Amino acid sequence: MATFTKLSASETPTIQINSKYKISKINDNIYGGFTEHMGRCIYGGIYDPGNNLSDENGYRKDVMEALKELNVPVMRYPGGNFVATYRWEDGIGPREQRPSRPELAWLGTETNQFGTDEFLQWCELLGTEPYFALNFGTGTLLEALAWIEYCNLDGDTHYANLRRKNGRQKPYNVKYWALGNECWGPWQVEQMTKEAYAEKAYQWAKAIKLLDPSVELVLCGQDGTSTWDAYVLKQCIKWNAHALGGSTDKPLISMHSIHIYTSAQEHLPNATAPRSAERAIEITAGLIDLARIENQIPHSVPRPTICFDEWNVWDPTRAPGDKGAEEKYTLSDALAVAVWLNVFIRQSKYIGMANIAQSVNVISPLMTSETGITKQTTWWPLLLFSKYMRGSTIPVNVSCGEYEGPTQPAWIRGTIETPWLDVSAAISDDGWVSLAVVNVSDTDGIEVDLMGAAGTDIQVHTVTGSSTSVFNTQDNQEVRIEESKWDGKGKFLFLKHSFTLLRWKV
Ligand code: AHR
Repeated sequence: MATFTKLSASETPTIQINSKYKISKINDNIYGGFTEHMGRCIYGGIYDPGNNLSDENGYRKDVMEALKELNVPVMRYPGGNFVATYRWEDGIGPREQRPSRPELAWLGTETNQFGTDEFLQWCELLGTEPYFALNFGTGTLLEALAWIEYCNLDGDTHYANLRRKNGRQKPYNVKYWALGNECWGPWQVEQMTKEAYAEKAYQWAKAIKLLDPSVELVLCGQDGTSTWDAYVLKQCIKWNAHALGGSTDKPLISMHSIHIYTSAQEHLPNATAPRSAERAIEITAGLIDLARIENQIPHSVPRPTICFDEWNVWDPTRAPGDKGAEEKYTLSDALAVAVWLNVFIRQSKYIGMANIAQSVNVISPLMTSETGITKQTTWWPLLLFSKYMRGSTIPVNVSCGEYEGPTQPAWIRGTIETPWLDVSAAISDDGWVSLAVVNVSDTDGIEVDLMGAAGTDIQVHTVTGSSTSVFNTQDNQEVRIEESKWDGKGKFLFLKHSFTLLRWKV
């Protein structure tokens, strides 16, 4: 949580932190990733058999190492839009017997050489928790139940035995399952009305919980600000004694998924656009509470959280999905990503998971070539947040001027402010305070009085570049992390178009 006090140009900007009060725990799963069968994310991204950068399983070692550095706690799979026609059984068993199929989301061919077992074993090597999306397009409930049985059940039953036959004895215990993806979207195979979706999602949720009560189910929302969100929450956030075995401390639905991609041609609307996601989170949190109130959910049933399982900067006209969506990210985009992450820290009370879309090659901070990887501009703020912005959110007030120009979307204006300095703060479990500050201004550095909060021995990590339009290549990392120290004396200068992370021990 952060508060903002708008100052005039003649007043001295300040940032005030209170490290004594923890507002809410930051769920590590906000640093989740997403790997879809789309473009070069799977094939040529995480899986590249024959390349000498890959291991004996075909997994790219350089990608694995980079994602380990990022410490990704959870990985969504296999889509995205892809999942709406996915037949999971095509992707198991002997590779030479797996069928190739026309793929209708991105209009390619799916060879199924990489499937459930390959993904789950890759997750185990990476040390990340899998999160599967179910096919709500062409898929049936029987197929969904079979997939869960294959992954999670340990008895003497058909699909559990099929998993064993395919070489895996013990269950994988996939905990997170999404009830479809963007089922509201006109681009979706078997697009649904909110009424049809809510009815189906509720019935599927009951059946899945009967099969495996340990799973956590994620409802398919829209962007958090739509009638779809309000309706499906109202219909599905219910307490079902039968499906939950009479338990009053387990929800049927654990999380509500929302997706937003931000972008704008100009730097300032681009960098401030993630503020729309902040307002969307606040609205969604209200809708969740409204559904709980109207449906009289016992207070002992945990309140569903928000699963922001697709977020990022993406302009689909610049990087179209059917051409692999290979965005080339600028410094402006890196600052937008830092604002996005500030949003998740400030709103940690409501966020159960967030997944950057996507983790490799497709709208991603990490790109591969035949010969190596490129860490795009957006990689660096993501790395700093994942390393240091963990633990609990603490209160912070920023007093400074405000950007008052056009925003993308326009409705940001009038619903939420856009300060020049976008700020969040966290305290780790071992007492390190981290203050994340994005100076979105492309013309002015801003000197700030930190009111002595930071002591005298402060680690400084800065991400900036010569202009907001610079980008990185495999051979030139213009945008990266610069490290320095600050003795806490006087004011701190936040450079123009920069992201700065200050750290100190209390
Ligand atoms: O992440 C790319 C695509 O964007 C996903 O497949 C879809 O869910 C969204 O529209």
